[in-house]
Amino acid sequence: MSGRRRRGSAPSGRGKGGRYSDRGGGSGQGRQRSKSRQKSGERPSRPPGLRGKEIGLYYRNLSLKNKGLKKEKEPPLGTVTLSDSKKYQLKELLRREDTCFGYFSTDDSTYAHVEDSTFKRTFLSTIRGNILDKIEKSSTVMTTISDESRDNYFYNEFSAKKENSKYKKMMDNREGLPSYKKRREILKLIEEHQVILISGETGCGKTTQVAQFILDDYIEKKKGSMCKIICTQPRRISAIAVAERVADERAEKLGHSVGYQIRLEKKLPRERCCINFCTTGVVLKQMESDPALGGVSHIILDEIHERNVASDFLITLLKEVIKKRVDLKVILMSATLNSEAFSAYYNTCPHINIPGFTFPVTEYFLEDVLQQTKFTFPEQGPHRPGMKKWMMYKDKSKAENRAKEKEFEDYIVPYARRLLKERKYDIHVCKQLTNIISEDINLELVLELVKYICRHDDEFSSILVFMPGYAQISDLNKMLQASGKFPHSRFIIIPLHSQMPTVDQRQIFSPAPTGVRKVIISTNIAETSITIDDVVFVIDTGKIKMNDFNVETNTETLDIQWVSKANADQRKGRAGRVKPGVCYHLYSRARHQIIEKFQKPEILRMRLEGTILQTKILQLGKVEEFFSKLMDPPDAETVTLSLNLLKRLNALDDREDLMPLGYHIARLPIAPQMGKMILFGAIFSCLDPVLSVAASLDYKDAFQIPLGKEKLADIKRVELGDGLLSDHLLLHKALERFENSDSQRQFCWEFFLSSHTLHQLQDMKKQFMQYLLELEFVRNLNPKAAENNRNSDNMSLVKAIVCAGLYPNVAIACKNKHGRLKCLKSMDYKYRYNFHKKSVLASEPFFESPLIVYYTKVKSKADYIYDATMVTPLPIIFFGDQYEHKNERGTSIISICNSLTFKAANDTAEIIRELRNRMNWFLEYKVTHPGFVDWTKETGEIKVLRAIKQLITSEDVGYDIEEYEDDDEEESFDD
Ligand code: CDP
Ligand code: MG
Repeated sequence: MSGRRRRGSAPSGRGKGGRYSDRGGGSGQGRQRSKSRQKSGERPSRPPGLRGKEIGLYYRNLSLKNKGLKKEKEPPLGTVTLSDSKKYQLKELLRREDTCFGYFSTDDSTYAHVEDSTFKRTFLSTIRGNILDKIEKSSTVMTTISDESRDNYFYNEFSAKKENSKYKKMMDNREGLPSYKKRREILKLIEEHQVILISGETGCGKTTQVAQFILDDYIEKKKGSMCKIICTQPRRISAIAVAERVADERAEKLGHSVGYQIRLEKKLPRERCCINFCTTGVVLKQMESDPALGGVSHIILDEIHERNVASDFLITLLKEVIKKRVDLKVILMSATLNSEAFSAYYNTCPHINIPGFTFPVTEYFLEDVLQQTKFTFPEQGPHRPGMKKWMMYKDKSKAENRAKEKEFEDYIVPYARRLLKERKYDIHVCKQLTNIISEDINLELVLELVKYICRHDDEFSSILVFMPGYAQISDLNKMLQASGKFPHSRFIIIPLHSQMPTVDQRQIFSPAPTGVRKVIISTNIAETSITIDDVVFVIDTGKIKMNDFNVETNTETLDIQWVSKANADQRKGRAGRVKPGVCYHLYSRARHQIIEKFQKPEILRMRLEGTILQTKILQLGKVEEFFSKLMDPPDAETVTLSLNLLKRLNALDDREDLMPLGYHIARLPIAPQMGKMILFGAIFSCLDPVLSVAASLDYKDAFQIPLGKEKLADIKRVELGDGLLSDHLLLHKALERFENSDSQRQFCWEFFLSSHTLHQLQDMKKQFMQYLLELEFVRNLNPKAAENNRNSDNMSLVKAIVCAGLYPNVAIACKNKHGRLKCLKSMDYKYRYNFHKKSVLASEPFFESPLIVYYTKVKSKADYIYDATMVTPLPIIFFGDQYEHKNERGTSIISICNSLTFKAANDTAEIIRELRNRMNWFLEYKVTHPGFVDWTKETGEIKVLRAIKQLITSEDVGYDIEEYEDDDEEESFDD
């Protein structure tokens, strides 16, 4: 021991925590001993006779042993006390007969204790059924019956349309697309096979044409009524844009033969003889109630090369479905990259490739761009003026930076040296390439390049710039505007991002007026799903924003990474649609050599709770088995981690079967933790604020951080947060104040909020209400109805419900000697976190309670908690799992999840345990007997809920947090 005090060892007055500990026998004494030893600064003497390495090993083992013990010794986080009158009142309540709900075992898979009800029948058929039987049973519904009079109607309508001048004009255009030349071949292949794959260069006319080929063919064969096509899109924005385009091509309005459906918006086409463009998620949701896809004749899975979870999932799911639905045609569509893999996956289904026509594209790399623009990178350093946080090379862990440096030294620097020798480029250029900053996105370079292009091209061709994310798009946009070189009279600058308002995005397709140049700044959305024809210049910054998931640390990451070669190729291809084009890659040829061939599929990069619940609702059996059928099965450890969380949430039982709570949250279109929060919000009658929190967490918050006003935005958020020490309640406050505001625009402007997002959140809340009504937890659709909000003014209760949903995401705020926040630790004290600076808690020095719940933790430089709420111990004690309490000499130690401990008088602990049991019984009763909880009634259940409400909200019931200190000095030993 180096003489530093170990974490968790107490200064005077606190050591008695050890006395109550009944775990790790005899630890009290051991603790005293080690304490005095630490005080004297000595290290424990080692056994005699050890030599050399053995000494090191001895101390290492000792240190590991101590670390193991340490966990046992974390002192209680506080004392829970109840006044005598309160105790009396609660004991009386618990004695009453009408407050006992009886006990039923959760191990009982027959659910015999639940009376027969519609819920019980659907629930049991879900947990016991399997998808193929279900499809078989619904086979009568799905056969589309032909209807002669309608067939004739559709035929005549189509014949008339052919004379329509707009249609004819569009048709000329369509006939010029490469896909049109393959029309007959495609139709023949579909007719002869159940599954086919169509690949083709982006822009060749897959998305807009293939569905129309099928539909028109049916109509012309007078079988229009038998045709109902679903075409899936990976993104909401492309579903709408494509539907609009196709309706346009058919000289119709949306909602006739063409429609769309995305999560919060729909404009459905007519029931038969139609094409519906949906997001993949919508189709999966639809299959929960109708896995046979009744009435659908063709399903087209578009853009499958993107490999997002929903489309990977759907591809595998359909492989099962078509075994029973032999009349359903499946058409897989992908860009040319790696398309053979999909055909191979579908038992080598027939594959047709549409040769695309593109003009040649000249490719330039960073060295060429530097040569042309004479650009100089700034010297490396974190504090360049105007440097954005996302640009900072320092914003990574040390290990990551070292790896990055090594790669740079090994591959890029030697390449620069070689260039120098070859003398093809200026010395200046070669020198620039040896600056590691040249591998980060540099907006000034992009700006210079755009100016360069404008100087040298007098045809006003469009420029498409690929950026990784929102921040970079918006920064470049502002920079272009601020430079004064891009006046509105001569430039249309279009930021293109899936989270930017839909209306703005439509202007991207229309050609700019003569003398005006379009500059589109986009994410990889413009790589394959949106084709902008008049682009001649592409600037590829080489970066993409990607989420990832690290199983070991159980952390999600969202990082800017190098694109894959496949992305780079796609980006290049965007430049040659109308004439020979130019693509500028802002990275060196050496970098291009070493980037990955393809991007990792999304299913290998994320948590799987939602996906697992979806497999359960779809009755796909054991997840491992289903996942093993996927094109790329996820890592077994990630699956286990997600299964465990679902079990802890009481969503799945030990056999991995859905539990009633899991059934409900699986049906809510939201992450499981938020689903649970919403159900509890309904039961505790504080629905409106909880819906706001859940919607914001699931979708995105409405706060914007305008450039240069970051500090002011922070201040405004704290002001809106109202001292509640909760980012979650802040989300609720933002929406509530917005809804009640006379001048919503002024309000949004003042607090830097996006009114567009706030409106979307309102829509989401309405959608959740729809589900709650279906689940019968509410009686009307109004989130603001008084009967759903009896307790909505009680912010402590809302906090407690947020805690119920977010548990086990609990962090512990450790204080220093002066009571100020020192750091955040994970529940098991193993990991250290920080508040993200956007959190209102980040500026808070003192925490009354050491308990923090959060939803998102993201790793970049360190582990950051993005959204946090300080909660008092009782909500954790009530909603946490693995409750235990042990009596010890008049006082009890309550422990949650074997790691969070609290002291309480024995009778207090007893009352808490009893109420906790009642609550759990009640919740189990409620989820198995869904129904509205009426807080105006004086029933036994309401009495118990009221008592619980009182306990979990009485922030001053009298718990007092013990002096809690954390020295946070890692053990070190220096042998
Ligand atoms: O799906 P794929 O990439 O093969 O092509 P597509 O999206 O069907 O596009 C075919 C043609 O329609 C392209 O020339 C697009 O520019 C054009 N298009 C359009 O003008 N407006 C849209 N909203 C979508 C496509
Ligand atoms: Mg497409």
